[in-house]
Amino acid sequence: MEEIEITKPDDWHVHFRDREILREVVPETTRNFARAIVMPNLIPPILNGKQAIKYKERIKKVIPKTDDFEPFMTIYLTEKTSKNDLKEAYNNNAVFAAKLYPAGATTNSDSGVKDIKKIMPVLETMAKVGMPLLIHGEVTHKEVDIFDREKVFINQNLDFICKELPELKITLEHITTEDATMYVNQSNRNLVATITPHHLALNRNAIFVGGIRPHNYCLPILKREKHRRALIEVATNGNKKFFLGTDTAPHFASHKENCCGCAGIFNATYCMSILAQIFEDNNSIKNLEKFTSLNGSKHYGLSKNKTKIKLLKRNNPIVFKKQIKVGNNSISVFNPDFPVYWEVI
Ligand code: DOR
Ligand code: ZN
Repeated sequence: MEEIEITKPDDWHVHFRDREILREVVPETTRNFARAIVMPNLIPPILNGKQAIKYKERIKKVIPKTDDFEPFMTIYLTEKTSKNDLKEAYNNNAVFAAKLYPAGATTNSDSGVKDIKKIMPVLETMAKVGMPLLIHGEVTHKEVDIFDREKVFINQNLDFICKELPELKITLEHITTEDATMYVNQSNRNLVATITPHHLALNRNAIFVGGIRPHNYCLPILKREKHRRALIEVATNGNKKFFLGTDTAPHFASHKENCCGCAGIFNATYCMSILAQIFEDNNSIKNLEKFTSLNGSKHYGLSKNKTKIKLLKRNNPIVFKKQIKVGNNSISVFNPDFPVYWEVI
C-alpha cells in the first residue's frame, strides 16, 4: 500500500455560513486544514472589521477541541465601503482580505459591486497597505452567456484593475477556464488564482448528461473538457501561481433540488482524498503538497504549517458518506464520478 505525508493543507476559500450550518460544516474543514480564508457572503454580509471579529468568534466556538485551526476573515466590498474603515480593519488584523462580488454574480451577492470604477479608491488603498483582493471573476450582464462570464470579466474588468494597480495583490478565485490560466500565467507576480476540487474533477457534462444534476451546479459554472484539462495542467505541474481554494459551499439539499436551485458544492469532507486521486491519475502526486499546502501560504507571505497529514492508498475505493445532517435538513457531500482510493489517516 502506498502512503504519502504532506504539510497540513490550507483552504484559501471556504463558505462556513452561520448558526446551525456553521456548527456542522466547520469540523469538516478543520479536520484536514490548518487555516482557511472565510467568505463574507452571509445574510446580511460581513461589511466591516467589527462584524468580522464577531463572526470569527462564532467560528472559533465550534472548532473541535482536537483541531488546531485558524480562520482568516474577509470583508464584503460594496460601493459604500469606506477605505479608512477597511484600512483600519486590515491594520488591526481584524481581517485578512477583502472580497469583490460583482452584484448578482452568485449566492448572496446582491449588495456587491455594480461599477468597478466606483471602488477604485478603495482598491488603491488596499494596494498601498498590502491588503489582498479576492475576486469572484464573472460579469453579470444579461447578454453575456453564462459559460463566457469569466472570460469577459477578465477582458473587461480584471485587465483594467491589473493595469491601473499593478501593486495590488489579487487572487482570481475558483478559476474555470483556459483563458484564466493563461491570463494569470502571463501576469505579474501579484496576480494568482485558486482552483476548486470540483472544477478539477468535472466538466459541464456532469450537470446535464443523463438528467439534470443540481448537486453539480456551482458558480462559475463547470466548463467544457478542454478548460478542465487546462486547470489540471496548472494545478498539477507545481506552478506557484495556482493553489487550492475549495469554495466548499453548503446549501440544504432541498434548496438545490428545487425549481430554482442554489449554486454551490459542499466538498470539504473528501477534498484531500479527491485531490490525491486526481494528482495520482495525472502522474503528479509529488506536486500535491505544493498545490494544497505550499503555494498559497508563500503567496500570502505566511510560513507553511508545521504539522503534517498522511494519506494512504487503499486497495478498494473509499465509501463516501452521502450527507451531513443539519437538524431536519441535510447537505449533500460532493462525490465525483470516479473511484477514489486515497484516505486521510
Ligand atoms: O457555487 C458557488 N457557491 N459559487 C460561489 O461563488 C458562491 C457559493 C456560495 O456561497 O454558495
Ligand atoms: Zn465562494
